[in-house]
Amino acid sequence: MDILIAEDDFVSRKFLQKMLEEFGHTVIAAEDGAKAWELFKEHKFKMVVTDWMMPKMNGLVLCQKIRQNKSDDYVYIIILTAKDQKSDAVEGLDAGADDYITKPIDPGELSARIQVGRRIFKLEDAHKNANLQLLQSEKMASVGQLAAGVAHEINNPTGFVSSNLKTLADYQNDINMLIEKYRKFALDIKENGQPALALTEKMQALEELEADVDLEFILSDIKDLIKESREGTERIKKIVQDLKDFAHPGEDKLKAVDINKGIESTLNVVWNELKYNATVEKQLGEIPLVQGYPQQLNQVFMNIFVNAAQAMEDMGVIKIETKSSDGFAEISISDTGSGIPEENIPKLFDPFFTTKEVGKGTGLGLNVAYSIIQKHQGTIDVKSTVGKGTTFMIRIPGCN
Ligand SMILES: Nc1ncnc2c1ncn2[C@@H]1O[C@H](COP(=O)(O)OP(=O)(O)OP(=O)(O)O)[C@@H](O)[C@H]1O
Ligand SMILES: [Mg+2]
Repeated sequence: MDILIAEDDFVSRKFLQKMLEEFGHTVIAAEDGAKAWELFKEHKFKMVVTDWMMPKMNGLVLCQKIRQNKSDDYVYIIILTAKDQKSDAVEGLDAGADDYITKPIDPGELSARIQVGRRIFKLEDAHKNANLQLLQSEKMASVGQLAAGVAHEINNPTGFVSSNLKTLADYQNDINMLIEKYRKFALDIKENGQPALALTEKMQALEELEADVDLEFILSDIKDLIKESREGTERIKKIVQDLKDFAHPGEDKLKAVDINKGIESTLNVVWNELKYNATVEKQLGEIPLVQGYPQQLNQVFMNIFVNAAQAMEDMGVIKIETKSSDGFAEISISDTGSGIPEENIPKLFDPFFTTKEVGKGTGLGLNVAYSIIQKHQGTIDVKSTVGKGTTFMIRIPGCN
């Protein structure tokens, strides 16, 4: 492990360094707190062992600075105190240190304390994994919920395409029958050379038959049926494509993402969840591409769209606007739903915060959205008025 030492006393510093190196760690040592802080910012150590009293910046301030510094990885801090100053240790722990060791340092104790740190890292890893799984299972849950809606969306066009095919088959029978009669008529003329009167009668019979099967209608309806069926299969194709983009968990790679495209395909996929509660107004402007994970971003839009639809009492409006601002892609999603009471706003992005009945909401949607936007170096904010509606505003830095 890479360990940073901050200790102003030369002898103690060298002693500590030697000890840690003997335990197999890579050590960088600083002779005061300010230097240690510089080194920390450069190297991102996972473990810091710092003296308490030091020139320029003491151990307490160093602790605080490390804690305020936002980082994905936990930093384990051990503070060194003199034996007769236990109160320092308490203050150090308050300032964010994880543990303390009293001087003179005993190698056995130091090794044991570092082991404790390692255990914390292990727990931290497990925690991160659990979070990742939570994200994935929320995604799976919502994909499951969607599957029902999507099945419906596909079922509809499949239904009318198959009914059209049946009608076309009936038409074909009628047309075949007519062609058969015409052929026979033609053959008669060719082989027997009929008198004019018989010809007229046969022609009349054929005309009556045409009227009977309503050939004029059949011919124009065939055109419509084919056109409609084509649109149906296009719709199915599009939904399947969008669903593929949406649901392949393994294939979500970092790339330049077109947010407008993501919004369109997400709308297609969730349309069945929205259409009974809301009409959608889109104003998608020219926005920069963003560096990110397209499916995760779609997941954010989906969660917000579904929330908006669920917030509608009667038919409402969901308005989606995108625009470019200072190199950021700005996405605003407003609804004319119930709005959010002020006291709920601070809890909105907390995991498991939900006002929905059991089985309807898990309270993970916005928490997942928040983590995803954070991962994209973006921000997500909310403004809401009870009885009027809610607006979610997302900003993500562009990459061009
Ligand atoms: N557009 C909105 N209008 C009104 N309330 C909202 C809106 N979006 C979110 N909320 C409130 O925030 C809560 C948390 O939303 P979140 O999406 O995190 O969870 P959920 O919708 O309850 O459950 P899940 O999304 O996991 O199915 C909701 O229960 C609801 O009270
Ligand atoms: Mg939700």
